[in-house]
Amino acid sequence: MSKILITGGAGFIGSAVIRHLQQFNNEIFVIDNLSFGNREFISVPDANFFHEDILNRDRMVKIIGNIKPDYVIHLAAVHFIPYCNEHPYESSNINIRGTMHILEAARLAGVQKVFFASTAAVYPIYDEAVTEQHVVGPLDIYGLSKLTGEHLCNEFHLMTGIPTVICRFFNAFGPNETNPHLIPEIQKQILGGNRKIKLGNLTPKRDFIHTYDMANAVHTLLDKTASGIHTYNLGRGIEYSVTEIVDAFSEAIGEKIEIEVDPARVRKVERMHLLADVTKLKSLGWQPKTGIEDGIRTLVE
Ligand SMILES: NC(=O)c1ccc[n+]([C@@H]2O[C@H](COP(=O)([O-])OP(=O)(O)OC[C@H]3O[C@@H](n4cnc5c(N)ncnc54)[C@H](O)[C@@H]3O)[C@@H](O)[C@H]2O)c1
Repeated sequence: MSKILITGGAGFIGSAVIRHLQQFNNEIFVIDNLSFGNREFISVPDANFFHEDILNRDRMVKIIGNIKPDYVIHLAAVHFIPYCNEHPYESSNINIRGTMHILEAARLAGVQKVFFASTAAVYPIYDEAVTEQHVVGPLDIYGLSKLTGEHLCNEFHLMTGIPTVICRFFNAFGPNETNPHLIPEIQKQILGGNRKIKLGNLTPKRDFIHTYDMANAVHTLLDKTASGIHTYNLGRGIEYSVTEIVDAFSEAIGEKIEIEVDPARVRKVERMHLLADVTKLKSLGWQPKTGIEDGIRTLVE
């Protein structure tokens, strides 16, 4: 049994990671200020749940120092891109300064490994599948803050020698979504009874990965990465357009859904593709299991 501390554990991806790691008898500790997350998403005793802000450096050092976890999984961040664009100071502060606090506390507590949730948003626009070797170049404040987090992890590893994993998440989907991304937005309109739904750009493609497969990947990366610092993409390696996602919803409810393009939702500048090359992650023995059709059917059910 390992002691695992998860920041942002009450969030969308964190709650799936916790459910997964609990099946392997790990003791889970959570730090979350519940700004986006939900305490009810997770079954963690109150004694192991710290309703705290990662911006409070002294509390982070104290809490993590007391727990002395084997592993730290740092997920706490502000990540909904429109929110980050509207609140650039708040999001960069949490994503950069907050990360500095967690890394410092992990160093002082002498943990065995740190896992940092980065993002596909560190990549510029590419039309092909991106490998970890593709040159990074974020397009927005969110991607910039996460790339800075990656650099902080590099510095942390150089200073401490503590094994560190940087994982670039692509587009997550699954239960407990906390932000109005594409899939929950479609779901909300359909469950509200609409069969003609309003959306923005229809042609951009994204690599959607189910949170259950992400949780499994996080576990694999904690278990199977050796000493050093490693960067991995985490996606499914398949991309879907907005229209294909809506078709999967149609299939799941057995009814035709029409799309009306709402000019107010159309983004002026949009990536047409965001697709992960996950060869490196698969080389550790991980395989995604939940496809978009199955995942959307379960969401609808
Ligand atoms: N969802 C995606 O598609 C996606 C894609 C790429 C990367 N990521 C990254 O994965 C991680 C988890 O994302 P998610 O989708 O679960 O988002 P989420 O918003 O559901 O989870 C983030 C959690 O962090 C908590 N949090 C935010 N600010 C905090 C603070 N100052 N102190 C303490 N806790 C704080 C929130 O309450 C929330 O529970 C994030 O680091 C995010 O950047 C997510």
